[in-house]
Amino acid sequence: MRKILVTGAAGQIGSELVPALRERYGSGNVIAAGHRTPMPDDMRDAGPAITIDVTDGESVQRSLRDHDVGTVYHMSSVLSAFAESNRQRAHSVNIDGLYNVLEAAVDNDLDQLILPSSIAAFGPDTPQDETPNETLQRPATLYGISKVFGELMGNYYVDKLGLDVRGLRLPGIISWKTEPTAGTTDYAVAIFYGAIREGRYICYLRPDTRLPMMYMPDCIKAIVDLAHADGSRLKHHTDFNVGAVSFTPAELAGVISGKVPGFSVDYEVDPLRQGIADSWPNSLDDTAAREEWDWSPSYDLNTMADDMLENLGVKLAGENRAR
Ligand code: SER
Repeated sequence: MRKILVTGAAGQIGSELVPALRERYGSGNVIAAGHRTPMPDDMRDAGPAITIDVTDGESVQRSLRDHDVGTVYHMSSVLSAFAESNRQRAHSVNIDGLYNVLEAAVDNDLDQLILPSSIAAFGPDTPQDETPNETLQRPATLYGISKVFGELMGNYYVDKLGLDVRGLRLPGIISWKTEPTAGTTDYAVAIFYGAIREGRYICYLRPDTRLPMMYMPDCIKAIVDLAHADGSRLKHHTDFNVGAVSFTPAELAGVISGKVPGFSVDYEVDPLRQGIADSWPNSLDDTAAREEWDWSPSYDLNTMADDMLENLGVKLAGENRAR
């Protein structure tokens, strides 16, 4: 088979997507492509691993050609909060990098390109409750603008160039393996670290800030299920809403308090990330994903919190022992 390549392999999602794809297709068939973020040793040891700078079109072209790549999961991206203070980097990775991957996909006649979008593709004018799949998209962040660019460009390459591009608007992703940084939804991961390490957490969003979220196993399932969906059923391509759970910091803190006695949260609002969060949906209507490729999440807030506390607890205890 032609190889599968994952950009952003060392990132929050990439670090769990690569092992999942390797399990499914065989380790030798899945290339982990990283750049600045150091790649975990187990990922490098378990299968092929390369460096790609997505901002360098030639390097992307060469990597796909030399490694006989047939499918790309393009996960590398500069996330929302970091992008706001690093415009140039955000533009070169999120816009130029995406364009380079699309062009390399055409030139190398890829079988499929997966381009994740985000709830950031919506903006302050978008209806916030049960945000429809088709609605007003006027994002107020650079990250969101780049995600709308990705959705539109992906659909353009489907229509005009016959490339099989698929993408979904991921909510905030909660996971224990790789800690996210530079995003707006990261509090929902950091709060678990705070709970386990110190029994407290200082949250940078207001307690009533409702956002759509998803646990990592559901995120991996959504990405892989969309990649494998019967193309003849798809009416959408690059812009599927995928819902799972939706909660506020206060609600998440309440659930964790029920499982970690004495846990407490204080709030010190960061205006940058609060402003971003306020411009994003509260929850998503994902009927299109359910109808076109049978999307259905497995975790709710309670089962996600149980699994997070268990796995993160084991991970942090292991790190303590290693010190
Ligand atoms: N998790 C991302 C962020 O907060 C949203 O896609 O930037």
